[in-house]
Amino acid sequence: MRILVSAAAFGLAVMLAGPVAAQTIPLAIKGAGGAAVSGDTARGQTVFKKCVQCHSPVKGKNGTGPSLHGIVGRPAGSVANFRYSEANKKSGITWTEQELFVYLENPKKRIPKTIMAFAGLPKAQDRADLIAFLKVNGQK
Ligand code: HEC
Repeated sequence: MRILVSAAAFGLAVMLAGPVAAQTIPLAIKGAGGAAVSGDTARGQTVFKKCVQCHSPVKGKNGTGPSLHGIVGRPAGSVANFRYSEANKKSGITWTEQELFVYLENPKKRIPKTIMAFAGLPKAQDRADLIAFLKVNGQK
């Protein structure tokens, strides 16, 4: 019995730290021609592999880049204990789903002097899936 209980607890811990539940969620993003956009959270977690060398999805865990936990809806430059560029801090951006969608296509176009060394994600669906993952990840 004790073994069963701890196995269940272990299973739960793995679930919370591991993959997000696969689901397709509608996003507050206007795609090409004003089309509605939705994102696949599990696919987004795979796209996020392009970010993990610099960004953790875990709250309070900064690396080369700030933690991206709860990024959706947060003002730019507001993660505690991360040293941002002036350009990012003073951008005046709030990271809505739409702003992330634009920024992640070409970060240096949206914030020319950012210190984030990342070329961008050219595929709109990659960005939408990633944003769906970031949104769901921020809720746990
Ligand atoms: C080579 C390292 C690196 C990679 C790869 C990278 N970033 Fe960044 N990112 C940074 C740094 C550094 C900053 C801080 C920029 C500044 O202060 O100018 C940043 C900032 C950001 C911000 C603004 C955060 C805030 O609090 O204002 C977002 C959003 C972001 N990155 C998302 C991503 C996503 C999503 C990916 C993957 C698709 C990614 N980044 C890939 C290094 C990186």
